[in-house]
Amino acid sequence: MSHALGDTATFDRFARFYDWFTPEADAEEFREALSFADREVGRVLDVGGGTGRGAAALGVRERIVADAAAGMTRQARRNGFEAVRADAAALPFVAESADAVLIVDALHHFGDPGEAVREAARVLRPGGVLVIREIDPTALLGRLTEFGEHRLGFDSTFFAPEELGRSVADAGLDAKFRTGGFEYTVVGRA
Ligand SMILES: C[S@@+](CC[C@H](N)C(=O)[O-])C[C@H]1O[C@@H](n2cnc3c(N)ncnc32)[C@H](O)[C@@H]1O
Repeated sequence: MSHALGDTATFDRFARFYDWFTPEADAEEFREALSFADREVGRVLDVGGGTGRGAAALGVRERIVADAAAGMTRQARRNGFEAVRADAAALPFVAESADAVLIVDALHHFGDPGEAVREAARVLRPGGVLVIREIDPTALLGRLTEFGEHRLGFDSTFFAPEELGRSVADAGLDAKFRTGGFEYTVVGRA
């Protein structure tokens, strides 16, 4: 897979150590976002899911991690998840096959975030939800994070909450967002 995919090489290399430095995901925030679904949530795809940190925070029957970095999918399997190596912009899942898609702290690393949002909308079942957790570049800490990631060599592209909300709505989903300072959540229901 090529660099046009987004930021994958560094994650591939440091996958084994990723969990050592990353705090647990906010389970309460996800519960609230999933409650926007208009169907029972039994099958979740964690796209750009890395080692499965987002999936781990969900008490859901079937959790599948999709990530473009082979090292991350290997680590996700070690963590007990089903994991597939895949580009978020070309998901290997049939249309209307998931109750929820999670993209946590990952969209800004994707090579084609717009297509990733459209792909997420494609694989959602009617009433299912796309949950995107992102860093807000309009907040001071968000700007510092953007600066820091670029200094580390990442190509990260951050979106303001309103802008990402519009992309999710343009993908045909009923979108809403909630800001919390440094991080925010966009939820889109199919
Ligand atoms: C900061 S990590 C976040 C991982 C996980 N979601 C979490 O919250 O811990 C970003 C992830 O995005 C993945 N990634 C980057 N570009 C991708 C793409 N085009 N398709 C799928 N995953 C991608 C990276 O390999 C990495 O695992």
